[in-house]
Amino acid sequence: MDSSDDEGEEYLFKVVIIGDSAVGKSNLLSRYARNEFNLHSKATIGVEFQTQNMEIDGKEVKAQIWDTAGQERFRAVTSAYYRGAVGALIVYDITRTITFDSVPRWLEELKTHSDTTVATMLVGNKCDLGNIRAVSVEDGKNLAEKEGLFFMETSALDSTNVKTAFELVIREIY
Ligand code: GTP
Ligand code: MG
Repeated sequence: MDSSDDEGEEYLFKVVIIGDSAVGKSNLLSRYARNEFNLHSKATIGVEFQTQNMEIDGKEVKAQIWDTAGQERFRAVTSAYYRGAVGALIVYDITRTITFDSVPRWLEELKTHSDTTVATMLVGNKCDLGNIRAVSVEDGKNLAEKEGLFFMETSALDSTNVKTAFELVIREIY
């Protein structure tokens, strides 16, 4: 890139959120982008996205974060969803083992549809529900390590690690 273009330059990164239905993808995004949480949110139909600005090393960085349905029948066209993504969050619910067992499948789909290296974080959401935890932190960490992913437990409800998780992925891309 021509170095004279540097001033006022903007970076736009596409990040996708994937994972089974009801793991909290839409609430993680609304918590991050608007500081909102909805206890009774409806399943996502199709695809939505939010653009979020952040500053890294004095440069304005825009992240376009895409959210789609975990349920197959409500999902957007898969290839279009992943096209151009440089970051991904694969989310499971720490209270439901079945959502953790789906992670390899989501990872496979991500790999199949992305053409570049995608900075990917494994996210164990709903860590506020530690009293009914079904997936240990250790299991999350081990899977992430095995697959070469970043790992974090989050809570969209009480905001734990939400900003940190998104921004770590965005920083990694940058
Ligand atoms: P789909 O759109 O169907 O794929 O689901 P989703 O992954 O977008 O899940 P959504 O964000 O709609 O959340 C599902 C349910 O989990 C809602 O009732 C949320 O209020 C709840 N939820 C989401 N995040 C958390 C969390 O961190 N803690 C708790 N306790 N509940 C959460
Ligand atoms: Mg949703």
